[in-house]
Amino acid sequence: MEISYNMLLENNKAWATLKRNNTPNFFNKLSKGQSPEYLWIGCSDSRVPENEITGTKPGEIFVHRNIANMVVHSDMNLLSVLSYAVDVLKVKHIIVCGHYGCGGVIAAMSNKQYGLIDNWLRHIKDVYRHHHIELDSIADEEQRTNRLIELNVIEQVHDLGITSIVQNAWSRNQPLHIHGWVYGLENGIINDLEVTFKCSKDLHAIYQLNY
Ligand code: CO
Repeated sequence: MEISYNMLLENNKAWATLKRNNTPNFFNKLSKGQSPEYLWIGCSDSRVPENEITGTKPGEIFVHRNIANMVVHSDMNLLSVLSYAVDVLKVKHIIVCGHYGCGGVIAAMSNKQYGLIDNWLRHIKDVYRHHHIELDSIADEEQRTNRLIELNVIEQVHDLGITSIVQNAWSRNQPLHIHGWVYGLENGIINDLEVTFKCSKDLHAIYQLNY
């Protein structure tokens, strides 16, 4: 599995040649601009490469990845990506994709200190607290972790829906669906949690903005 640093650059040259040979205008076309229909919010985990697992190509998915695929309202990075994707690129779907066996969620379930990252993982602990009755009733630790991984994705879908960025898009009738998925590291299969948000009515009244 080990790959040398130099090999990355060698592979790149070979890849670029192959692409050019198969599709002569491949780079020329991409260099003119992008119009992806999807925004992907995924985990930074190296085992969940969005293009590869969805059979998509360069130019087809706009991407934001962080530890445990979180939507944190004060995260300027996430908000900037979201705003650009929704307001400028006008993506039609936002996909929050978590994955079973997520190290971030596993770490959040323990009481151990990890350093700076504890402040990030705390958002996952908040999800646990919201759902503690359901989660505490699951005796098996792996099953409990997997359920928290699913609930965490569902919460992030919700947290995207309540942003002013997404609500403003809906208010101007821009088609925009937000989905929650969980990828299985063991089998490569994506589990669609079917928690799609597509209009302000899908939100609790307290979050709905006036227009
Ligand atoms: Co992860």
